[in-house]
Amino acid sequence: MKITVVGAGAVGASCAEYIAIKNFSSEVVLLDIKENLAEGKAMDLMQTASLNGFDTKITGITNDYAVTAGSNIAVITSGIPRKPGMTREELIVINAGIVKSVTEQLIKYSKDVILIIVSNPMDTMTYLTHQVAGLPKNRIIGMGGALDSARFKYRLAEAIECPSSDIDGMVIGGHSDKGMLPLTRLATRNSVRVSEFLSNGRLLQVLEDTKVGGATLTSMLGTSAWYAPGAAVSSLVHAIACDQKKMFPCSVLLNGEYGLNDLCIGIPVILGENGIEQIVDVDLNESELNKLKESAAGVKATNLLLKDLKL
Ligand code: NAI
Repeated sequence: MKITVVGAGAVGASCAEYIAIKNFSSEVVLLDIKENLAEGKAMDLMQTASLNGFDTKITGITNDYAVTAGSNIAVITSGIPRKPGMTREELIVINAGIVKSVTEQLIKYSKDVILIIVSNPMDTMTYLTHQVAGLPKNRIIGMGGALDSARFKYRLAEAIECPSSDIDGMVIGGHSDKGMLPLTRLATRNSVRVSEFLSNGRLLQVLEDTKVGGATLTSMLGTSAWYAPGAAVSSLVHAIACDQKKMFPCSVLLNGEYGLNDLCIGIPVILGENGIEQIVDVDLNESELNKLKESAAGVKATNLLLKDLKL
């Protein structure tokens, strides 16, 4: 199994590290446009192999896509992250061009690759990748919901005062502060609804804290977070590489599912060796469906900005 990670910055390097530590892949290629950055991070990571007990070979390369040839999975993290006070949508002007050119070069050397898009604004970058790559729709996956769901579980566990592993919960919708939709009604602690443990007011606080999860960390760190994003990407890669048939909310191209068309947005899917193996139809109530539609309108408005960029 050969996995390429484009962008050896904070998220890309964290993702490569988690993939290596989980020890399920023979090879990870880390590629960056910045001279020697990927080579340096790959060497540093390889020097943890004997300490962390993994056999994955990590190779770093500066912008030479021939080295990525024959990748089974490629993760795109290249692009600029948010600075405090910025929205993810503001990154489109720079990141759209980067994602387009990176996709074209990846496809040139790995025709059957499964692409995982991380660069923001992620739902729109995933939509753009569909237009550029021309791959079957099951082979292009946007990562946002897996991270947002992990943040949701963290906030629920914090509020209930229990371990995150007790919590089951999911965030669907657009990967933006306004667009994400934590499904509080369906979240449980070991099958018991979280509303049994928390007041409505506290649940609402959890919901709001989850939605600004990324912005909170960006204001603390001065740039966007990387450990949980890297771990979330590596979980998707693991599910595909090992044909796990695991369910994650991912940004996928919709053709009528949930009454939505012609956009990529976060909804639950089953991931296995073919990428997206199934779109899961959750029985949302009217209020949740309305919020998902509002979120979709926001994503579509950002998608429209692509037209002005003349890529
Ligand atoms: P970073 O600045 O640490 O790393 C980005 C890397 O991309 C840099 O090393 C840069 O040299 C490289 N790069 C730029 N243009 C390139 C090109 N044409 N080819 C190859 N490499 C190129 O940024 P960070 O924190 O790693 O974030 C990366 C992206 O991921 C951002 O757009 C950020 O907003 C997004 N992100 C998305 C998340 C999600 O849940 N979808 C979560 C966290 C970050």
